[in-house]
Amino acid sequence: MTTKKIQKAGFSKLSASVALYAAAITGVLLVPVFYWLAELSLLLTIELVLLIMVVNATVVYTISYHLHHPRVEILERIYKNIARKKFEKYDEITTKHGDELSLLIKRSVRASNMVEKEFQRLNKIENYRKEFIGDISHELKTPIFAIQGFIETLIDGAIHDDEVNEEFLRKAMRNVNRLTYLTKDLMEISRLETGELKSEIRPLHLRGLILEVTESLQYKSQKEEVEVIVEKFDRNLQVRVDRNQIRQVFINLIENGIKYNKPGGSVTIGITKTSQEPDKVTVFVRDTGIGIDPKDIPRVTERFFRVDKSRSRDKGGTGLGLSIVKHIIEAHGETLWIESNDQGTTFFFTLTLTNQLLA
Ligand SMILES: Nc1ncnc2c1ncn2[C@@H]1O[C@H](COP(=O)(O)OP(=O)(O)O)[C@@H](O)[C@H]1O
Ligand SMILES: [Mg+2]
Repeated sequence: MTTKKIQKAGFSKLSASVALYAAAITGVLLVPVFYWLAELSLLLTIELVLLIMVVNATVVYTISYHLHHPRVEILERIYKNIARKKFEKYDEITTKHGDELSLLIKRSVRASNMVEKEFQRLNKIENYRKEFIGDISHELKTPIFAIQGFIETLIDGAIHDDEVNEEFLRKAMRNVNRLTYLTKDLMEISRLETGELKSEIRPLHLRGLILEVTESLQYKSQKEEVEVIVEKFDRNLQVRVDRNQIRQVFINLIENGIKYNKPGGSVTIGITKTSQEPDKVTVFVRDTGIGIDPKDIPRVTERFFRVDKSRSRDKGGTGLGLSIVKHIIEAHGETLWIESNDQGTTFFFTLTLTNQLLA
């Protein structure tokens, strides 16, 4: 506290220079006035001029000090804080003078706020990265340890036991498959997040794509006894999308609709149009499945989030499907939303129609 006080009442080199210059100029101007014009003696001239110079210097120093020093100190505080990565709120600083120094303080406060925001952003990215690596390690651990366990048991003799050898190999294979899905999804999400995966937006016949996806999922839907229905709509309808990415969106959503369903249930895909947004269609993927608890709805698009981990794992899920969907929809500048109750879940997203159809 005391050192701070002493610092505050400290010497100002800036004010001292101003005072010295002012005194020197006064001296140079007064000597000829007193000596030649007023015809004072040399000694008296020197004494008078020196006295006036001292008074002048003191007055100028005091004025300059009060005018500049507190604000120079504020600037010093701002920059010291930035160097120490310490960010205060500078709202209390009022710069009533409106001169260059005040402008500098205003700019410095703005710069400090920007540096603070950038710091927070970098910290967030860093935490995100750490969290992601933690999540990945955790996700990899389970299948790797399972494979290790099955192979070890087989080597230790189970390979000769016809009752279990094939089953253990199958289980090991299932975990190898999990690692494959995981790697594929991780590569996809990292390419989406780094922006490496550039969208190639082209006109696309929406109905054709949906039919192609549902056909490729026929085997899965039959196995789970879930009917996949595509509602009727104009097959000439074209949207502006990246074909591969939107195909992935349909695969992930329809697959979820099948996986989190009940035998005898259904997944329906269709579109709606609204008059408010004539250039858009809303696509929906609706299922009659187990539903999602309202509190979990905002979280299902987070990566690795699964309501029921073991159910998802049994069905070959990685917990990345919906985060990939969200990324792709957002990269298209479109919106995704979810409605769910105990009767089932509906995923909605918008797509933009091509210009020809609007005309
Ligand atoms: N249609 C759905 N009905 C009920 N729950 C769902 C549905 N789609 C997704 N979920 C829940 O959201 C979680 C995350 O989905 P997703 O990211 O696709 O991961 P995964 O399917 O690999 O588990 C799922 O584990 C599941 O709990
Ligand atoms: Mg999924």
